[in-house]
Amino acid sequence: NKEKLELLKKKNEEALLGGGKQRIATQHEKGKLTARERIHLLIDEGTFQEIDKFKMHRCKDFGLDKEYYLGDGVVTGYGEVNGRLVYVYSQDFTVFGGSLSETHAEKICKIMDMAMQNGAPVIGLNDSGGARIQEGVNSLGGYADIFYRNTRASGVIPQLSAIMGPCAGGAVYSPAITDFILMVEETSYMFVTGPNVVKTVTQEHVSSEELGGASTHSTKSGVTHFACQNEVDCIKTMKEILSYIPQNCEDDAPSYPYEMREDESREELDKLVPENPNHPYDMRAVVGGIVDDASFLEVHKNFADNMVVGFARIAGRSVGVVGNQPQSLAGVLDNDASIKAARFVRFCDCFNIPLLVLVDVPGFLPGTDQEWNGIISNGAKLLYAFSEATVPRITVITRKAYGGAYDVMNSKHIGADLNFAWPTAEIAVMGAKGAAEIIFKKEIAQADDPQEKLQEKIDQYTKKFANPYKAAHRGYIDEVILPSQTRNKLISGFKMLQNKVDNLPRKKHGNIPL
Ligand code: COA
Repeated sequence: NKEKLELLKKKNEEALLGGGKQRIATQHEKGKLTARERIHLLIDEGTFQEIDKFKMHRCKDFGLDKEYYLGDGVVTGYGEVNGRLVYVYSQDFTVFGGSLSETHAEKICKIMDMAMQNGAPVIGLNDSGGARIQEGVNSLGGYADIFYRNTRASGVIPQLSAIMGPCAGGAVYSPAITDFILMVEETSYMFVTGPNVVKTVTQEHVSSEELGGASTHSTKSGVTHFACQNEVDCIKTMKEILSYIPQNCEDDAPSYPYEMREDESREELDKLVPENPNHPYDMRAVVGGIVDDASFLEVHKNFADNMVVGFARIAGRSVGVVGNQPQSLAGVLDNDASIKAARFVRFCDCFNIPLLVLVDVPGFLPGTDQEWNGIISNGAKLLYAFSEATVPRITVITRKAYGGAYDVMNSKHIGADLNFAWPTAEIAVMGAKGAAEIIFKKEIAQADDPQEKLQEKIDQYTKKFANPYKAAHRGYIDEVILPSQTRNKLISGFKMLQNKVDNLPRKKHGNIPL
C-alpha cells in the first residue's frame, strides 16, 4: 500500500512540473508566470481543486506517442475568489506551447459544463501556441466544442478571458465570445493571422505587438476591454470585475454593506458644468461625485473615449455606468462609442446589473467615415440594447441631449424608469445656432443686419429649448434636480427599483442589428 501512496505522490509532483524545469525557467525569462502560479494568484488560498490533473493526449503521430505530460498543457478546476465559486482553466505554455489538443479541449469543456450546471463564472487564462499541430482536425474539433459552449453559456454565466501569451488563429474566437477580455502589455497578443501571413498576403510589415498587442486591441480595435501592465495587475483586475457581477443570470449582483453618511449630497457637482455650453468637462468627475468612493472600474478605458462605461457601486450596490464624455469629441455618438456602450449595456442586462446613464450628447458624428462604416446600424445597436434592457434604468441629463441621440441615450420613451435632468440640461432637436439657421433662414437672409437677426433667433430658440422644462412639462423628465442632490436621488431611485419586474414579449431571440 505504501508503494501505491508513493506512486500517487510521485505523479502529483510530476504533474506540477508541467513541461519541466527548463521550460518553466524559459517562461519566467519571458517575464511570464506559469499556469499554476497564475491560478495561485487568482484563487483564494487553499480553495483550488484541480480536475483531470493526470489526463494525457491520445495522439500517436509525429512522435507524440513518445512524449506525454500529465495534464496535457492545461490546468483546470474550481475554487473561490473572495469566497465565491469560480471555474478556471489555465493554459500551460511549458507543455507543447500550451497548444490545444483534443484532450486539452475536453478538460476545458468539462469545467465549462460544470460551471453551467452549478451557475458560476468561468475564467480562462490563455497562453497557447494554438491548435496542436500534430493532431490536425481533432484539435480543431476541440476548439469548436469550446466555442459552442462559450456561446451556449453566453448570458447564463459570466465568462472572462485573460490573454497572457500568444492567442492566434482560431484560438481567438473563444475569448471573443466571452464577456470580457483582459490582455497583458508586451507579453500577449491576439490575431487571426500572424505577421508572416500578413506580409505574404498584404505586403504589410508589422510586429506581433503592433498587429495584436494589448495596446493595439485596447485602443484601435476594441477587442480587449482591459490592457494590464503585467500579469499581477491582470489578475487583480479580473478579481475586481468579479466583485461587481453576479454568479449567473438568476443571481443578483453582489451588494456590500454601506453605512449611509448623514449627508450624501455632493456640493462640488453644482459647479461642474461650465457656463459656456461649448466648453468641455470630464464626465468621470460626475461619476466620481455620484458613486461610492473609489468604486469605479472603467471598462474599455482607452477605446472610444467619447463614451465612458464601467462598473460602480451606489450605496454598496453594483451599477453599470454609461456616460457621454464631453471632453472628447464633445461627447458625440459615433460608431465605436455606440458599439462600446451597446455591448456593455447588454452585459449588464444579462446579469441583472442596474444601469445609470449620464447624458451630455450633441448628436451623432457627421461624415462619410461614419456613414460608410455603418453609423446607422451601429447607433441602432445602442438604441436596441437600451430598449431591450429590463434591469432598473436611471438617466441623468447633465447638459445637452440633442436630436436622435436624446432618444437613444436611455430616454423615457425607450423604457427608462427614472429620468432626471440638471437645471443646465438642454433638450432639443439640435443646438440653438443650427436650429435658428435652419428655421429662420429666410428671415435672417432678408434682415438688414443678418448677424443681429441670427443672434435674436438663437436667443429665442435658447430660451424655449435650452433647458429641461419643456421636457419636464411633458413628463419626459421625472424631476429636475440640483446636481448636488444627484447621489441622493440615485440612492433612493435604485432602492425603489430593486424589485422591478419587466419581461420581454415571448420570442426565440431578438434580432439586434449586428
Ligand atoms: N502545436 C504543437 N506544439 C507547439 C505549438 C503547436 N501549435 N506551438 C508551439 N508548440 C511547441 C513548440 O514546438 C515548442 O516545443 P518544445 O518546447 O518541445 O521545443 C514549444 O511549444 C514552445 O514553442 P516555441 O516556438 O519554442 O515558443 P516561442 O515563444 O518561441 O513561440 C509561438 C511561440 C506560439 C509564436 C510559436 O510556437 C508558434 O508559432 N506556434 C505555432 C502557432 C500556430 O501556427 N498554431 C496553429 C494554428 S492555430
